[in-house]
Amino acid sequence: MKVSIKINGTVLERDVEPRLLLVHFIRDVAGLKGTHVGCETGHCGACTVLLNGKPVKSCQLFAVQANGSEVETVEGLERDGKLSLEQEAFIDNFAMQCGYCTPGMLMITHYLLRRYPRLTREEIREKIHGNYCMCTGYVQIVNAIEDAFKRRGT
Ligand code: FES
Ligand code: FES
Repeated sequence: MKVSIKINGTVLERDVEPRLLLVHFIRDVAGLKGTHVGCETGHCGACTVLLNGKPVKSCQLFAVQANGSEVETVEGLERDGKLSLEQEAFIDNFAMQCGYCTPGMLMITHYLLRRYPRLTREEIREKIHGNYCMCTGYVQIVNAIEDAFKRRGT
């Protein structure tokens, strides 16, 4: 089937198998390896991207379901060689260990910053409940998200 998906501002038109998952379209067709594959069961959130501005687990959608849509991945956060404020906040707060969850954490953070003027620490914890960090570095991750809100301002 032919699909047309805009990823980080670039439209890709490709013939794909109907069963191809969106995460594999992103990684293997678009060649954007920043989106990770973890559980492939919709639990871990390593594959989180934004689809038409909303966070989705890209292992839970077929590429054909994203036809005509806009996808944002972690590669789209950097602008003109400059890291985004959420990327800077994650670095400065040591909010990664192995880094496997980090692209998904960054994309959910990107969404939260766009969606909410501010969030309490408890609210941040609740909003990222669909993203697991197997290294269990949640304190630093929540610190980084709080810091990203501060850097962004309101
Ligand atoms: S790989 Fe998609 S939720 Fe785990
Ligand atoms: S930093 Fe290793 S899974 Fe989160």
